[in-house]
Amino acid sequence: MINASSNNSIGIFDSGIGGTSIWKEIHALLPNEDTVYLSDSKNAPYGLKSKEEIIDLSIKNTELLIKEGAKIIVVACNTATTNAIQYLRNNYQIPFIGIEPAIKPAAIKTKTNKIGILATKGTLNSELFEHTSSKIDKHIKIIEQVGEGLVELIENNKIESSEMSVLLKKYLSPMLEQKIDHLVLGCTHYPYLIPQIRKIIGEDIQIIDSGEAVAKQTKNILSNLNLLNKESKKSTTIFYINKDEVILEKILLNYPNSIIKKRDF
Ligand code: DGL
Repeated sequence: MINASSNNSIGIFDSGIGGTSIWKEIHALLPNEDTVYLSDSKNAPYGLKSKEEIIDLSIKNTELLIKEGAKIIVVACNTATTNAIQYLRNNYQIPFIGIEPAIKPAAIKTKTNKIGILATKGTLNSELFEHTSSKIDKHIKIIEQVGEGLVELIENNKIESSEMSVLLKKYLSPMLEQKIDHLVLGCTHYPYLIPQIRKIIGEDIQIIDSGEAVAKQTKNILSNLNLLNKESKKSTTIFYINKDEVILEKILLNYPNSIIKKRDF
């Protein structure tokens, strides 16, 4: 284990602003923990890159977070987790928390035996995802869909655009035809699309994402390692972004104490 103290921060990274959906859960559950977030927007999307490229970017982010004094690293990106977390765990002493598409809980709850998953190409093609889905009851049909273009539109502040609704309709219609009753969001950017997704799928289909589970897991691991911050003070939340910060400012509007800094990394 690294030589970290409980006062050190929780490090979080994603290919862009999507991981802030995880940060919000972590911040809500652990409000007095300092956090440092890396939005690697310059290199988004990770989902179309090779496994080697995703590992290299994850190394870069990990090393910067360790330099910033992180006591734990949350890989707030399904694509980076499914392609790189094994490498990171094998090569760094710091504890890592990852995020994977929640197909297991969806498979347990489905009544129609049909679940949909929307994720990046990098996630759906990964060995880790293949391994997880191979363990699902064979009676359950998993309808996989690559969300090509969605991350780019979100990063470019086009969440409510007509291009977005055209793409979402194209990706979700086959799932509706097949009568899914659960939709798994397998990318941390996608929770920001829930209002748009709801307009297309209605209210009856359950949408599942893993944000809350990741926050709980982070708390458990910190507690087991005796690294939970016990000081009751106001926390510092820093967001580094290596591209235009407009969308990050918009997403963090309700968190006025967050510090957003443009930085090259
Ligand atoms: N937020 C990342 C994920 O969870 C997006 C990946 C990408 O940049 O393509 O997969």
